[in-house]
Amino acid sequence: MMTGKHAVIFGATSGIGKELSKHLIADGYTVVITGRRQENLEAIKASNPKQYIAKQHDITDVASTDVLFKELIAELKTIDLIVCSSGVGGANYNLEWQIEYNTIMTNILGTTKVYDLAYNLFKDQGYGHLVGISSVAGIRGNRHVPCYFASKAYQNSYLESLWMKASRTKNAKITITDIVPGFVETKMATGNTFWMAPLDRATKQIYEAIKSKKKKAFITKRWRYVGALIRILPAKLVMKYL
Ligand SMILES: NC(=O)c1ccc[n+]([C@@H]2O[C@H](COP(=O)([O-])OP(=O)(O)OC[C@H]3O[C@@H](n4cnc5c(N)ncnc54)[C@H](OP(=O)(O)O)[C@@H]3O)[C@@H](O)[C@H]2O)c1
Repeated sequence: MMTGKHAVIFGATSGIGKELSKHLIADGYTVVITGRRQENLEAIKASNPKQYIAKQHDITDVASTDVLFKELIAELKTIDLIVCSSGVGGANYNLEWQIEYNTIMTNILGTTKVYDLAYNLFKDQGYGHLVGISSVAGIRGNRHVPCYFASKAYQNSYLESLWMKASRTKNAKITITDIVPGFVETKMATGNTFWMAPLDRATKQIYEAIKSKKKKAFITKRWRYVGALIRILPAKLVMKYL
């Protein structure tokens, strides 16, 4: 049996999930890293074989998520923190169905499965912290990337619902955090954009928000104010900038 603090990161093979795993390792966590790219998992594990546990997993295969949770509970007994960073998104100018389908399967179907399994696990063990990585994309629509933006609105709403549910759940201390990044310099954030936050700076702020058990945190912090403005602007103006 593994002792100490345990964290699981869905989507830790690159970008925010991978960077966040380094902070948790530095703080003494045993960190389960997941994702589809086996070679990336192996390379990360090789950097600290004692603290990393690698599990190849495709979040769209929801039956395998059930199996993975059972496996993790058997191995670790308890899990303190679950982060869902898995996500896909990209421009879809011609509404190609395959792009929308992949986004729905990953950001909605697969993600909901992780959220629900995490919540129920924490309810059973009496405590736990679930972190979703949504996006400022969830605030309004976008004509070029409709499904990604809609999927992030779904995540914002679902995480708020879980937060509400947690605050009324007796006999379990469940924390829910919605991390709402603007643009962060990763593989996903391609193209010309403004205010691209370096990955290390954004992830440092994300980790601070997790440690403070925030309900919702905009990354970087300025997006809190910009987000509030975007929310109330007329759609024609939003279209000019996003
Ligand atoms: N970068 C930004 O500007 C930005 C802004 C706002 C929000 N976000 C959100 O931040 C999260 C992380 O993205 P990132 O920027 O760090 O990009 P990234 O480097 O592309 O990371 C995406 C992660 O999701 C995993 N993933 C994708 N499809 C998966 C699947 N079917 N099963 C399991 N894992 C899957 C990838 O692993 P595999 O490919 O190995 O499966 C990878 O580890 C996403 O949810 C994204 O929407 C990013």
